[in-house]
Amino acid sequence: MQDLDYKILAALKGSKDYISGEDFGARFGISRQGLWKHINKLVDKGYEISAAPHLGYQLISSPDKLYPFEIQYGLNTKVIGKNIHYEESCGSTQDIAWVLAEQNCAHGTVVVSETQKKGRGRMRRRWVSSRGGLYFSIVLRPDFVLVNEIAGITLLLGLACLYGIKEVTGIECSLKWPNDLFLGNKKAAGILCEVSAEQDRVRFIAAGIGINVNTRDLPHGAVSLFLESKKKFNRVSVLQAILFQTERVYEKARRNGFSPIFKEWQKHCSLWGRRIQVKVMHKKIEAEAVGIDEQGYLILRRDNGLLEKICSGDVIKVNPPKN
Ligand code: BTN
Repeated sequence: MQDLDYKILAALKGSKDYISGEDFGARFGISRQGLWKHINKLVDKGYEISAAPHLGYQLISSPDKLYPFEIQYGLNTKVIGKNIHYEESCGSTQDIAWVLAEQNCAHGTVVVSETQKKGRGRMRRRWVSSRGGLYFSIVLRPDFVLVNEIAGITLLLGLACLYGIKEVTGIECSLKWPNDLFLGNKKAAGILCEVSAEQDRVRFIAAGIGINVNTRDLPHGAVSLFLESKKKFNRVSVLQAILFQTERVYEKARRNGFSPIFKEWQKHCSLWGRRIQVKVMHKKIEAEAVGIDEQGYLILRRDNGLLEKICSGDVIKVNPPKN
């Protein structure tokens, strides 16, 4: 969309009444014919606009789309989401984010797509990305973090998603190490951080986030916010809240370090005291989940009582809590 489309749309969104052609002309120096062309472009994009003789134009409804304008309208961040790259459909938003990052895009650039054909998850798993979900990647350039501290960024993103989802939908997910969001024993969202680094310096992180918002077709073991609550949610609002929370928690980590973030994270994780199975490379470990350490690593208590730290792995089984 052009700058003028944005301005016209913002004016329409900001008014409950009709705005006359004369008014638009005075505000943006645009002719009636020129205005008509822009209005038609917006209608083609799915905006429902009423046109009444002598009155002008009024916005009736906006499409259920993740257009950059929709996301940025009312977005309360300073940096995250100031640049947004939109796709109707793509392979993976991670690949686009990676290319943009290599081309030096700004910290906080967001890539969003309505669907993905090759959405990917951790451990080379496929991420089903059908319509109704949220699929986006954020390019982060954390200049205060060394490569061995990256777990902090992935954990803080989980917290930001949890808070953002709660704020808009009222639904409280639980966190599963390292960065899954669960509702009961089903997965509602996942985070994939892909890192470009040289020696111990982080060049950038492509942080990919997938959230099953209004999705109906899901693989076994997954749930959406819609299926959980039988309510459809506004995806733009969920995304705005997550971007806002990401910036808030990220800035908190920059100012105060990761310790307070990890404490908050631990409170929302439902694994503690439970016997779990973790896949680490080709090995499976079964032990009691105890907590996370000051680097965000998972602490396990083995059957012989010794504590073991896991820096990277996948929790593949969680047993019910002991009574
Ligand atoms: C996981 O739980 O394994 C992580 C899933 C991450 C999925 C998101 S959807 C947006 C971004 N693009 C991808 O291809 N993957 C991430």
